[in-house]
Amino acid sequence: MSHAEDHEGTRRDFLYYATAGAGAVATGAAVWPLVNQMNPSADVQALSSIRVDVSGVSEGSQLTVKWLGKPVFIRRRTPEEIDASRAVEVDSLPDPLAQNANIDETSPATDENRAMDEAGEWLVMIGVCTHLGCVPIGNGSGDFGGWFCPCHGSHYDEAGRIRKGPAPRNLDIPVAEFVDETTIKLG
Ligand code: FES
Repeated sequence: MSHAEDHEGTRRDFLYYATAGAGAVATGAAVWPLVNQMNPSADVQALSSIRVDVSGVSEGSQLTVKWLGKPVFIRRRTPEEIDASRAVEVDSLPDPLAQNANIDETSPATDENRAMDEAGEWLVMIGVCTHLGCVPIGNGSGDFGGWFCPCHGSHYDEAGRIRKGPAPRNLDIPVAEFVDETTIKLG
């Protein structure tokens, strides 16, 4: 290979990586403006506890916020999702534990033990696949109407419980509570 060709190859590689990098930035930019809006200021992001205004979250949609460096999914579920999830037999689940930091760690993974409120409308989870840490896709994705992790094919149901694939645990539920009707406090 001549010097000229060698140089050409290096340049192409550089351009390829530069383009890939720009793509990643563009995706991030599309996702995070909403989050930035939710956070009162940058210094709040460094706190171990944040308050999230959920008044703009409509039924059947999900808000993703960044908390302690991780995405947190805040989903407002539809009545259909709640009904389907509540009909699931806990004994049939790969991970029978609720994985909810707000209740006893031995609690079973019933829908009631996963949802934040009694009606089951709100579900708050760490958006990190329990297999190797990818961020699952939401909005009714996967074979069980919840979230799907495309990295190695883990399917989570309407309550974020693992149903199929290599992930060993249900999506983790962080310490969270409603401090007023439209504000959820994480941590
Ligand atoms: S990281 Fe999600 S399936 Fe492997």
